[in-house]
Amino acid sequence: MPHVTPPATQLIEALRGAVGDAHVLVEDDMRAPFEIDWTRRWSGRAAAVVQPGTTEAVAAVLRACGDHDVAVVPQGGNTGLVGAGVPRGGPADGSERREQVVLSMTRLVGLDDVDAASMQVSAGAGVTLGALQVHARAAGLDAGVDFGARDSATLGALVACDAGGIRALRHGTVRARVAGLEAVLADGQVVRRMSGLLKDNAGYDLPALLTGSEGTLGVITRVRWRLVPRHDARALALIPLPGLADAAPLLRAVRPRLASLDACEFLTDDGLGLVLEHLGVPAPVEPRAPAYVLLEAAATADPLPDLADALEAAGIEDAVIADDSASRERLWRLRESHTEAISAAGVPHKLDVGVPLDALAPFCDAVRDAMPAGARTIVFGHLGDGNVHVNVLGPDPADGSVDETVLRLVAEHGGTISAEHGVGVAKARFLHLTRSDAEIAAMGAIKAALDPRGILNPGAVISERTAAG
Ligand code: MLT
Ligand code: ZN
Repeated sequence: MPHVTPPATQLIEALRGAVGDAHVLVEDDMRAPFEIDWTRRWSGRAAAVVQPGTTEAVAAVLRACGDHDVAVVPQGGNTGLVGAGVPRGGPADGSERREQVVLSMTRLVGLDDVDAASMQVSAGAGVTLGALQVHARAAGLDAGVDFGARDSATLGALVACDAGGIRALRHGTVRARVAGLEAVLADGQVVRRMSGLLKDNAGYDLPALLTGSEGTLGVITRVRWRLVPRHDARALALIPLPGLADAAPLLRAVRPRLASLDACEFLTDDGLGLVLEHLGVPAPVEPRAPAYVLLEAAATADPLPDLADALEAAGIEDAVIADDSASRERLWRLRESHTEAISAAGVPHKLDVGVPLDALAPFCDAVRDAMPAGARTIVFGHLGDGNVHVNVLGPDPADGSVDETVLRLVAEHGGTISAEHGVGVAKARFLHLTRSDAEIAAMGAIKAALDPRGILNPGAVISERTAAG
């Protein structure tokens, strides 16, 4: 009887041929860390995890998966929070009938010399944000993006979800950092625009289209990154407020007077209390207040006098000022530990949304009022961008009604269901809340044109569930 190789074995052999035996992980314990996301809400089974080391190997993986009709889930540092970088599980996350392969991009770590004249650098998709920051600073520049997961999150994934972070109010989201991209399309073709030309309007802007597409239109392999001036002189203020409603007027008073404003974050005392307990550290201010704003100014010369003047003009009398790096780090740690402290208390419903600045406080109140009895609602985020991180502890993580309630309130307050984490699989079925039928149809047409077999990150951003509303 002739020997017939089963399809799954053929796939694994094809993947081994593409990236080498050592870079195809098939054992359960080897795959496991790649199959569940940071929130523990999203997980699924992959036939294999592949770790290509070159763009050509990525192309070979996509061709192999296309030949075998296997879905591909691109993954960076696996710090995503919307299920976009892990295999699909059950119906709630757009269950996938085909085999799935995780395409781990962390081996693409090439980092070129900084070009000081253009203030740009070319980097592999697997370079972490932290590594880029160190590299840029050594050349007297900076990455222009920052957030807590800097040492794990990778540049390809940052571009794929158009990440935001704490410096977006000054430098824009990651989209503003993209001077060019290299990516592999679903059929294995490589598209490359890495010259970094500031003026290049020859045809459709494919890098712009791939930015924020969450791995559904192509796999980003290299990024031409636009750097920003390095500002070493920093001053930080933590301002206690009687309520969140006082945060928007504060920003409105400060912003025009403080050209060096580099970050403007908000927290509430519920979140701060959880963080203090989690870290076992004392409160930064007594008495505690219902809400706080964290304002950072950064410049080449000491920005403290400008910060103090701006606070005075805004009528702020009480603020904790940190102007040396140890005390700044202590205050930033209280803000950046929110995600970790919340996660240590349970598996939260976690919704990254954006609302107009004046709607921020009413929206947060409405969310709190709408949550089931016993739920613990913690909001924090990036005031300067109207970007709110809603975290709800208590209700069953699988209870979709909590997410739906929050996202409907977002729409009612004129906001967006996704600000900086992406739509992923978590919010695909809610896209219609803040995108019109015409917009969703146009997105569907683009997806069908670039990935006709639907192998790239199926179920993320746009899917049958999106259309079903
Ligand atoms: C943050 O701003 O801390 C991050 O976006 C993470 C989060 O929302 O949990
Ligand atoms: Zn954030």
